[in-house]
Amino acid sequence: MMQNENIIQIRDLTAKYDDRIILDNISLNIRRGEVFVILGSSGGGKTTLLKHIIGLLKPVSGEINIFGKNTLSMELEEFEEILKKIGVQFQGGALLNSMEVWENVAMPLEHHTRLPVSTIRNIVKQKLSLVNLKHAYRLFPSELSGGMKKRVALARAIVMDPEILFFDEPSAGLDPITAAELDELILELQKKLGITIVVVTHELESIKRIADRVLYLQKGKNIFCGTLEEAKAADNDEMNQFFGWSEKVKRHK
Ligand SMILES: Nc1ncnc2c1ncn2[C@@H]1O[C@H](COP(=O)(O)OP(=O)(O)OP(=O)(O)O)[C@@H](O)[C@H]1O
Ligand SMILES: [Mg+2]
Repeated sequence: MMQNENIIQIRDLTAKYDDRIILDNISLNIRRGEVFVILGSSGGGKTTLLKHIIGLLKPVSGEINIFGKNTLSMELEEFEEILKKIGVQFQGGALLNSMEVWENVAMPLEHHTRLPVSTIRNIVKQKLSLVNLKHAYRLFPSELSGGMKKRVALARAIVMDPEILFFDEPSAGLDPITAAELDELILELQKKLGITIVVVTHELESIKRIADRVLYLQKGKNIFCGTLEEAKAADNDEMNQFFGWSEKVKRHK
């Protein structure tokens, strides 16, 4: 593994819904093994950026490289191979209520592999124990708490042993303690399994705990990319407000 290798490179990405520009000439690199957090006020384009990276949407212009390969010029089959190495947990990404927990977690394996059911069950058990939910194997989603559901979704996102994990608002709607536990889990996945983790979140506490670097999107523009220390030094009004670094401003009012 190369040190400081860029596992994702985005160059001059511009994206629209109909005629409205949502991502405005964005460039950024995500390094292998880091926790990269995407920030910005609601509607800034965070989810849209994730959807472009995983190929759900096509940009107007720009370039996206994953594992050093240009994914936008790729045949579908080649892109499918890349997708197998990417785990995704979407904003509000729901579990299927009619299926037991283990079946929910098994879905990507059923879709992408031809493994026998016994092997699939073993992999699912292993992933559920990684998120401390071995006992929930045969439960239905309706029998789980909010935090447990998030962890099941996390188990599903890592069931294919991804190299990159995308997580859109993992702790939204959780109490602070459960959210902190989820952060611990995210850090564990990064440290133990070496997964590169790309997270969208608004939770300040969470950002401080997990972020190696952050990207701040403002109305579709990359206005900052770097460490939290560098973010503070950047002294940008909107970021100061977001992080609660605007005491100075308030005092003078
Ligand atoms: N499918 C769509 N069709 C048209 N416009 C859309 C679509 N999805 C999102 N938008 C618009 O694109 C902009 C960016 O949306 P996006 O969901 O990427 O924001 P976000 O940063 O993820 O916001 P949040 O923090 O609320 O999740 C918003 O103005 C939104 O209304
Ligand atoms: Mg969003």
